[in-house]
Amino acid sequence: MQLIDGKATAQVIRDEIKAEVDYIVSNGHRPPHLAAILVGHDGGSETYVAYKIKDCEEVGFRSSLIRFEDHLKEENLLKKIEDLNQDPDLDGFIVQLPLPAHINEQLVIEAINPKKDVDGFHPENVGRTVLGLPSFISATPFGITELFRRYHIETSGKLCVIVGRSNIVGRPMSILMSQKSMNATVTVAHSGTEHLESLCASADILIAALGSPGFVKAHMVKEGAVVIDVGTTRVPSADTKSGFRLKGDVVFEEVAPKCSYITPVPGGVGPMTRVSLLSNTLLAAKGNITQ
Ligand code: GUN
Repeated sequence: MQLIDGKATAQVIRDEIKAEVDYIVSNGHRPPHLAAILVGHDGGSETYVAYKIKDCEEVGFRSSLIRFEDHLKEENLLKKIEDLNQDPDLDGFIVQLPLPAHINEQLVIEAINPKKDVDGFHPENVGRTVLGLPSFISATPFGITELFRRYHIETSGKLCVIVGRSNIVGRPMSILMSQKSMNATVTVAHSGTEHLESLCASADILIAALGSPGFVKAHMVKEGAVVIDVGTTRVPSADTKSGFRLKGDVVFEEVAPKCSYITPVPGGVGPMTRVSLLSNTLLAAKGNITQ
């Protein structure tokens, strides 16, 4: 069994990005600039956005954090998005989700200029991804494909079972895995799937992205399979400063011995998701993603 070290791989990619930023700046251009809009004070969202700002600093990007209170009116958020769409000094921005219930998330996503949509959530980017055209690909699927590429994991002709059909992970992942470049045979499983355990056990590549801690157990994994654990559920913990720890969708201890490759939680997909936002922002700054 080989551990897929997302933390170390993400560091390699950050170093590559930093080298490109140094080159851009040494040629007299401004560094790439990412903004994050955060509405309210959700604990998870606060943590994720703080990481995004810290990551920008590490690679030499400029970053801006734009905060609003929970009671922000939808029209005021849309107005801010329009300002950012027009701002020539800003390459990309994200609106951290979830938003308060009175704000229509889809409306917000569709208000973002697709050329600055470094989350890859806008229907134009999703559609372009489906068609195999240059697009911003959402961070987690992008990060997972980088792991396959950098670890030289064979995907061509393999049976890939993805558990979870979210717009952010499962669905775009299924599109990427079925493209010619990855060439896998893909099945998307979900809460309505019959015989889910035996389906998982038939997979050469199993991607668990359902957000149910400890869901995938040893009997659901084929000997020699590649297992990618996308789960990052925050569970209470007495052992950490924050009072939380991350728990994956896979029972690592019992599944790992059966695998050819496996991602741990933490230190697997999570760091790759973080660095992929930086990769997308660099692409946005270079202006060479969507025409
Ligand atoms: N909430 C959870 N993950 C994400 C993400 O990747 N982007 C945004 N904008 N919100 C999120």
